[in-house]
Amino acid sequence: MKYNKYFVIDFDSTFTKVEAFDVLAEIIVKDHPQAESIKKQIVDITNLGMEGKLSLRESIAQRISILNPERKHLSPLIKQLKGVVSESFKRNKEFFTTYADNIYIISNGFREFIEPVVTAFGVKPENILANEFIFDSSDKVIGFDLDNPLSANNGKVEQLKRLNLPGDVYVIGDGYTDYEIKHAGLANKFFAFTENIERESVLSKADHVAPSLDEFLYLNKLNTAISYPKNRINVLLLENVHPVAIELMRAEGFNVESYPAGLDEDELCEKIKNISVLGIRSKTQVTEKVLDNANRLMVIGAFCIGTNQIDLKAATKKGVAVFNAPFSNTRSVVELAIAEMILLMRNIPDKSAKMHEGKWDKSAKGSFEIRGKNLGIIGYGNIGAQLSVLAENMGMKIFYYDKEEKLALGNATKCKSLKELLALADVITLHVDGKESNTNLIGKEEFELMKKGVIFLNLSRGHVVDVAALRTNILNGTVGGCSIDVFPYEPISNAEEFKSELRGLPNTILTPHIGGSTSEAQENIGNFVPNKLMDYINTGSTSNSVNFPNLTLPTLENAHRLIHIHNNVPGILAKINQILAANDINIVGQYLKTNEHIGYVITDINKEYNKEMIKDLRAIDNTIKFRVLY
Ligand code: NAI
Repeated sequence: MKYNKYFVIDFDSTFTKVEAFDVLAEIIVKDHPQAESIKKQIVDITNLGMEGKLSLRESIAQRISILNPERKHLSPLIKQLKGVVSESFKRNKEFFTTYADNIYIISNGFREFIEPVVTAFGVKPENILANEFIFDSSDKVIGFDLDNPLSANNGKVEQLKRLNLPGDVYVIGDGYTDYEIKHAGLANKFFAFTENIERESVLSKADHVAPSLDEFLYLNKLNTAISYPKNRINVLLLENVHPVAIELMRAEGFNVESYPAGLDEDELCEKIKNISVLGIRSKTQVTEKVLDNANRLMVIGAFCIGTNQIDLKAATKKGVAVFNAPFSNTRSVVELAIAEMILLMRNIPDKSAKMHEGKWDKSAKGSFEIRGKNLGIIGYGNIGAQLSVLAENMGMKIFYYDKEEKLALGNATKCKSLKELLALADVITLHVDGKESNTNLIGKEEFELMKKGVIFLNLSRGHVVDVAALRTNILNGTVGGCSIDVFPYEPISNAEEFKSELRGLPNTILTPHIGGSTSEAQENIGNFVPNKLMDYINTGSTSNSVNFPNLTLPTLENAHRLIHIHNNVPGILAKINQILAANDINIVGQYLKTNEHIGYVITDINKEYNKEMIKDLRAIDNTIKFRVLY
């Protein structure tokens, strides 16, 4: 294709994440007793070269004489380099094929390892400007082509002069030698590429800083693979979310800011203004006022189970999708429930307390195994069902009651009513959800139906149990032991005293809502939520969203995706399709789902269309948010 702009791209630390010579050193000295010190020498020489303290020619010669590379080292080197191509280069492969005639790779490195890496992206071999090794008859490197301008200082400038490109030249690279091309008047613009490394001396010289190739393409209106550079999407993560979440979102190219603490309403109102993705845990209150200030916000990730801290209705009306981590700590709750059943069956809380007072009370009286006992699970959801499997493996007989039709796992028996379950269980454990209507699900009447000496667990939500009735039944011996992790009122912080009429009761384990609080659960959450957020941003998928109609979408191939969020009023789909038809646009796929408040329409269309049509789609009455994905 005829195009009069030329793109000159550096190789080491730009096209790939690494300096190829460092990788070559790793390969060659792998089994050498002084491997570390040799590798350090190589890095030092590379740096001296970059800082201008060693001529380029000397720096290459010294590295070759230390490493003594051979042809056989090239193939493992190429293999490794192919695996460390910069992420934003990988996702913009189309750019390299579309503009193949106009793309040049320039490097003081060597053609022997650069060519196989970049031609796999569609770069033309004749457009690769690099040094070349000289081998002897036994395939050992004995030098390099000294006539090649790139083997000497100022080589990139000299090379560009010789090329004499007939149009505008844009250079993208991470090093000073890349900037020198612009300095010499041979390029119109220099873009400092910082995805892999940031060099102060280079940043200050750049016309633009490009945290990724996405940004470079966006600024030059060349983006074919993505609609908007990820580095322009600001992500704010509060309350010390797990580091794995920060890593995942940075690796995706987002501009991530994270804070150990939460922010209060006023602080958040200010901070949220230029934020597109917000991540919180349970403390940060996302109120209507906060959302009113959130003009760029697309999505909120609750790095926890509950979402009460978010005004979901206001978020929905603003077209902000909310995701949480409903399953990430299931296993942690189940393990604690199992442990507590065993401890309570053996009267351990009392025995342990006595020991701390110096009392030795050795006896088997009132101590039982859990094997063969009837476990009654109320609420057979994620947690209840997993507990069913584990407890059965420990030899318990499982009975469950759920309001919904739930498949019995293993040999579990479904009870037709709560009453039936209460009457036959030796151990009762609550795993219902915390909706309002479950308040006092277990109260005076329910306790009266239970077996004398029953073991009772609540790790679901505090208001589900009438605490006064529980106290009475512990004291009158109906409940032989209980474990309570959740309370109708829970202290706001660790500084507040825990007050409860359950304090000091016999064979009673009280824990501060830590059923799901384990490192593993935090890490699971740290992995789960970012993937949901990225899926939403990258594909529009809303599966498992707490407030948006759930749509799982196919990956976008050879199409553009129009994402339209609107108030749920009749006729919007028709209006969208009228506009598409009037513009002769071919629909590849269309998906619609609504909930009480909003409609969510996804339309995949052929890539060639008149972009003016986008304005009409945005202008449809009752549109809340609209975006296009490439
Ligand atoms: P889930 O939503 O998967 O399961 C709840 C089940 O209870 C559903 O099958 C539902 O149909 C059933 N149910 C609701 N009301 C019922 C009723 N009145 N009678 C019978 N069945 C009823 O929830 P998941 O993930 O299993 O969590 C269960 C509970 O555990 C929730 O209340 C959750 O908030 C709590 N939880 C507590 C944690 C802790 O740290 N202690 C950690 C994680 C969850």
